[in-house]
Amino acid sequence: MENRILPLLLLIFCVACSSKLDKETYEKYRNSGQEITANVQAVLLSNVGKAIQTGGPEYAVEFCNLEAESIVDSLNGEFDCNISRVSAKNRNPNNALQTEQEKQMWQLFAEQPLADTLVESGNNLIYYKPIRTGMPACLKCHGNTSTDINAATKAKLEELYPDDLATGYQLNDFRGLWKVEFAKAK
Ligand code: HEC
Repeated sequence: MENRILPLLLLIFCVACSSKLDKETYEKYRNSGQEITANVQAVLLSNVGKAIQTGGPEYAVEFCNLEAESIVDSLNGEFDCNISRVSAKNRNPNNALQTEQEKQMWQLFAEQPLADTLVESGNNLIYYKPIRTGMPACLKCHGNTSTDINAATKAKLEELYPDDLATGYQLNDFRGLWKVEFAKAK
């Protein structure tokens, strides 16, 4: 246990003192991050909701497979940033934790009930915010594979995501992280 607490304390300290980020910059980009993730979340939810209505969750899985990434990418231009979703238990292989910072952030949010944070990385400012399975609908595709996810949906998931790690969640579990990268204003 101790060997996990020390790195975590150091990390919290580093995030807290987050070098030269003055309060104004921090608040400005944090607000943008909050606004952007709320927007993207709403767009994704409305799309997945419509797809479920059209053809049930199994159709919506196919829809997400084809469209989720491009829906998120299409909003990058609008907000002048780079938006992604990452997870230690990812469904889409592109959404795995990759950088050391992503892994540290994952650990931080897994162990602390923090709302969000903004960190510096080279010439970028990166906003991170946890994504939870906040509504029962999430479980139709991320819940228990025998009780929450129906057989057709399960088959579709196995077909499209053979290495899927993103099932077995309960309501309000920590499912992923929003990551929004901004180029620092010069
Ligand atoms: C209709 C099925 C379905 C529903 C409902 C659904 N998801 Fe997903 N989710 C998917 C699919 C499919 C992907 C992979 C999309 C892709 O290929 O980019 C995914 C990806 C994700 C990711 C990106 C990380 C990863 O694992 O690739 C997060 C985070 C996520 N879902 C959270 C949620 C949350 C939170 C809810 C409820 C608000 C939810 N999902 C509802 C099917 C669903």
